[in-house]
Amino acid sequence: MESAHRLVVFVDVALMLLLLNAGSWSDGVLVGPPPDPRPPSKGPPAVKVGFYNAKCPRAEEIVRAQVEKRFRIDHTITPALLRMLFHDSFVRGADASILLDSKPGNEAEKDALPNLTIRSFDLIQEVKEALESACPGIVSCADIIVLAVRDSVALAGGPKYDVPTGRLDGKVSSKDESLSLPSPAFPVEQSLESFRQKGLDLEDMVVLLGAHTVGVALCGFFNDRLFNFHGTGAADPTMNPQLVARLSNVCPNPFFTESNADPPINLDQSTPAIFDTSYYSQILAGNGILLIDQEITADPTTIGLVHRFTSPAEFFPAFVRSIIKMGNIGVLTGTDPLGEVRLRCNETNRRSSLPSGPSQPVHRPAKPPARRAAPPSRPGTVPVPRPPVGRSMKHPPLSVLRPPPPVSRTPPKAPIHKGKPSPAPGHIRRRPSPPSSG
Ligand SMILES: *[C@@H]1O[C@H](CO)[C@@H](O)[C@H](O)[C@H]1NC(C)=O
Ligand SMILES: *[C@@H]1O[C@H](CO)[C@@H](O)[C@H](O)[C@H]1NC(C)=O
Repeated sequence: MESAHRLVVFVDVALMLLLLNAGSWSDGVLVGPPPDPRPPSKGPPAVKVGFYNAKCPRAEEIVRAQVEKRFRIDHTITPALLRMLFHDSFVRGADASILLDSKPGNEAEKDALPNLTIRSFDLIQEVKEALESACPGIVSCADIIVLAVRDSVALAGGPKYDVPTGRLDGKVSSKDESLSLPSPAFPVEQSLESFRQKGLDLEDMVVLLGAHTVGVALCGFFNDRLFNFHGTGAADPTMNPQLVARLSNVCPNPFFTESNADPPINLDQSTPAIFDTSYYSQILAGNGILLIDQEITADPTTIGLVHRFTSPAEFFPAFVRSIIKMGNIGVLTGTDPLGEVRLRCNETNRRSSLPSGPSQPVHRPAKPPARRAAPPSRPGTVPVPRPPVGRSMKHPPLSVLRPPPPVSRTPPKAPIHKGKPSPAPGHIRRRPSPPSSG
């Protein structure tokens, strides 16, 4: 359990602290209608605000009620859901592939996650059940994630906003793809590249990192900053010495031993339970926990944004814009044969013959899986050449962090390929198309 446990977390565990701040949710600020629902990348997705108004008028209300109910007893759902959306969007697009369970012969993305996210999986499932009772086969799991994130952010004191819906759920989930999720130890430029590959820009990256205001990370993700930065045997000189001193007493050194504790550390040293702007003022004070948190204060291309986002009037609307963009990455909509509205969020519908007897309540399949011509150019099942991902995602704004490899990293000069030796043999290696923007 420890090892799986240490595997990730990130935005996830802020719970104890969150629990102390039950009152903060009512302070949410209403942000105007989503600025520009246009997709980050190619072709406008057919998602729109109020997609379910006709077919399931109470859909958003049902989601909100379930999220509120859970939030009352577990405030950590906010970071957990943010993390879920980040992970889902960056791997195959926002298609709820993150929710699929592994099947024989196919390990799902989910299995690349630590079970600390289990609470949020449960929540999504509960919401789905409530929705299936009200309007069977109508509301996609991908939309549930996006709506639940929206509601949980508002409950934690963040902005309230309208979010477009109309996503379909994907039919494929592969653990291998998610293993390429970003590391928090990449330099700004490298992180940015992974965002760009998803159609997100520098501002999106900096503003989405703001979700760390409610996040946590296990020591394993930044221990080198405390004890052996870049192999120097000393702490990262950019980290506030008081913070170094404090965390050095909390985080295990050396990290990679059995049986040592690996406690989750708040990424916001000031108000870790509240979705506010203190993440930015904290990192300006040298209190960034993850390397990327601190790096955005040192990089000339991002420091201006960091200052700007210390103001809620700047941060909230920008966050809304970017979280909506993120939720629109690679969406499947309309009658796209690669998508469907799942009846259960953890499995695809495809099975025409249910193994169970008559007692099983069989929903009519939302969509006959019948016509399933030869898969188009895009191979739906074989995860070998991963599609648009390339060697993708470098780092995590809201999410899944894999502990850095025990090997000490080489000097900062980090060319774009440093940090994570590509594990996949058939790795597509693309040059960054634009020469970089300085
Ligand atoms: C987490 O996963 C590990 C290994 O898969 C398992 O032993 C442990 O019981 C799980 N913990 C929870 C809380 O589910
Ligand atoms: C999905 O979840 C249900 C209920 O928890 C479970 O019975 C089912 O086996 C799961 N499906 C898969 C593919 O694991």
